[in-house]
Amino acid sequence: MQKILVIVAHPALERSRINRRMAAAAEELEGVTLHDLYEAYPDFDVDVGREQQLLKAHDLLVLQHPFFWYSVPPLLKQWIDLVLEHGWAYGSEGKALVGKRVLSAISTGGREDAFRRGGHNRFTMRELLAPIEQTFVLCGMDYLAPFCVHGAHGMRREQIDRHAAAYGRALEALRDERLDLEAAMRRPRLDDGLDELIRPPAGQS
Ligand SMILES: Cc1cc2nc3c(=O)[nH]c(=O)nc-3n(C[C@H](O)[C@H](O)[C@H](O)COP(=O)(O)O)c2cc1C
Repeated sequence: MQKILVIVAHPALERSRINRRMAAAAEELEGVTLHDLYEAYPDFDVDVGREQQLLKAHDLLVLQHPFFWYSVPPLLKQWIDLVLEHGWAYGSEGKALVGKRVLSAISTGGREDAFRRGGHNRFTMRELLAPIEQTFVLCGMDYLAPFCVHGAHGMRREQIDRHAAAYGRALEALRDERLDLEAAMRRPRLDDGLDELIRPPAGQS
């Protein structure tokens, strides 16, 4: 069983519709540690030692957050800047994260068709996330295709439930090593065609 650390970075999780529901789906799963970054560090005073211990103790890191100006919320950027230290996460002596995996799970206000070449946002999510992908690849980690929930504003309750359930299925399959990782690394998005990548549990077909 893979140990999963879900870092949730939302500055107002109590007012969130999507991320709160996704966090609840993740929290239900055995083997998943949910870590609410804004709750832990309201003053942005990140405890680097504690965060490095958490990373060491898990196999898969999930960065779950709303898309803010095509990027991560500021506390998650602060976390990246402080926790991924030279000599620990990268550099000739920095091997702490080598071989671990990382997944971005992101909600956007923009609709799905806005995130494509020629669309309103001109680039795909995977392209827009290139700096995040490369940050973790530099640390020797495998970067999976992002799990995206688009069109967050005005989404109906049933749609939110469907996305949260799919997110839970993705995490469960990753935990149980039933997700085709090679394919998940190559694809533009993990949520699109997710169930094709998941093998049924042993004994089921
Ligand atoms: C400061 C800020 C920046 C945002 N930037 C983007 C953006 O670049 N692209 C986008 O599609 N949505 C953007 N949004 C919308 C959020 O991504 C959206 O409100 C969020 O995903 C909804 O999730 P929630 O229900 O968990 O709060 C932005 C929102 C805020 C407050």
